[in-house]
Amino acid sequence: MTTRNEATTDLKSVKSPKRTEDYAKYFQPPSLKDAKKRGKEEIRVHYDFAIPEEMEGIGKGKRYLIHTYGCQMNEHDSETMAGILERLGYTRAAAEEEADVILYNTCAIRENAEDKVFGELGNVKRIKQNNPNLILGVCGCMSQEESVVGKILKSYPHVDLIFGTHNIHRLPVLLRDAMFSKEMVIEVWSKEGDIIENMPKVREGRIKAWVNIMYGCDKFCTYCIVPYTRGKERSRRPEDVIAEVRELARQGFQEVTLLGQNVNAYGKDFTDIKYGFGHLLDEIRQIGIPRVRFTTSHPRDFDDHLIEVLAKGGNLVEHIHLPVQSGSSEILKKMARKYTREHYLELVRKIKAAIPNVVLTTDIIVGFPGETEEQFEETLSLVKEVGYDSAYTFIYSPREGTPAADMEDNVPADVKKQRLYRLNELVNQLSLEKNKALQDQVVEVLVEGVSKTNAAVLSGRTRGNKLVHFVGDPSLIGTFVDVRITEARTWTLHGEIATKIEV
Ligand code: 5AD
Ligand code: SF4
Repeated sequence: MTTRNEATTDLKSVKSPKRTEDYAKYFQPPSLKDAKKRGKEEIRVHYDFAIPEEMEGIGKGKRYLIHTYGCQMNEHDSETMAGILERLGYTRAAAEEEADVILYNTCAIRENAEDKVFGELGNVKRIKQNNPNLILGVCGCMSQEESVVGKILKSYPHVDLIFGTHNIHRLPVLLRDAMFSKEMVIEVWSKEGDIIENMPKVREGRIKAWVNIMYGCDKFCTYCIVPYTRGKERSRRPEDVIAEVRELARQGFQEVTLLGQNVNAYGKDFTDIKYGFGHLLDEIRQIGIPRVRFTTSHPRDFDDHLIEVLAKGGNLVEHIHLPVQSGSSEILKKMARKYTREHYLELVRKIKAAIPNVVLTTDIIVGFPGETEEQFEETLSLVKEVGYDSAYTFIYSPREGTPAADMEDNVPADVKKQRLYRLNELVNQLSLEKNKALQDQVVEVLVEGVSKTNAAVLSGRTRGNKLVHFVGDPSLIGTFVDVRITEARTWTLHGEIATKIEV
């Protein structure tokens, strides 16, 4: 039997339980309290991931679907789950009605993200009734919360399988158990597992690829559930990241996005080498892949060495997503962000001085518990001062188990909504101004596909991550094209081909 905290890649270590007497032993529910602990044990990297022989082909002739919610980390985890399922023989289903396995890779960051999933789980019941052999699985961040698991057990008994963010590599075993079990199979390790390399992946498209550089977060911002759902910070070894980027370049990918909840903390957990995110980027800069992005940065760990490396440009694009969350030092303190308004603005000043045409984007939360009108106005003034190209804005959503959820909140809901509206007005106005500045200029666009609204139009992104639409031949998809901007809108740029760039 596995214990909750055991980290193993051994797929045979859990026997299919006999659902009566062994069930209690096997049932591994999550615990946010355990997830909060940060142990001193060294992270081990496993390179021996393999599908057990007896399970090869169990998906032959069967189909799967994965519904993904939330951030890029989840998108990429879904690519790994798809990789594992395809190794088992499954192929992708075109619709829920024809699927044999449907996985919901969920997000817990805000309440409305969770509500969406519960809605979907309600809707899919009808399909399960028509196809009792269908395996319904819930994974991702929501499955790490005991309240969610409790709710699924009680109100969504048609779910067959729940597994956590640290249990993805065990998908083959869990799937088999779910197939042969009459009870819901639940395996959620609350304490993070080790790093599992060499899991198969089915990437979306052949142009852009996600690459994990680290997992977890140790920042514990008081509003955020991520350090509980994703565990402690663990960095992949530089040589593994570099090998993966090299391989993607060899396969013809044009862009990679390096992923971590807090990429600036990369390498802080290495005990044998002094190697940070700046060092990693400095090496990746020399790989022949045209564009390299990263997300997400935490302002606290954004050091001068990193700015120096980013200023070298080349394939390191001049776009930095730098979540500020609030413009008030008092609110930042209550959020435990560990920087002040002044520190953030000083960092922005340094970045702008080193990278003159940098595109800055951010995340902002309004209506944090106790936020006053003055404190909110400090956020507005910071947004103006920085001059972001765009921002993701959110109303604070209490997350059970986080410190902020216990803070007294005297800000009425309609005031929070008003603040979001006022902030969005400002952000949109700034976006439009920034985009207008590109009018008549020629920008380099990586063409990603045809426009969602007009099949005769191509769409792609600039180095600054701005969406550009222009008329062109679909043969240009996957290439770099020089586009002259003829019309700038708030969220999109429109243009015409200037000349084609050979890369
Ligand atoms: N409520 C609202 N927004 C949140 N975020 C994280 N936690 C919460 C919460 N409890 C936002 C932050 C973060 C982004 C990914 O989601 O702005 O940067
Ligand atoms: Fe959440 Fe803060 Fe970690 Fe970002 S840095 S994932 S906001 S705890």
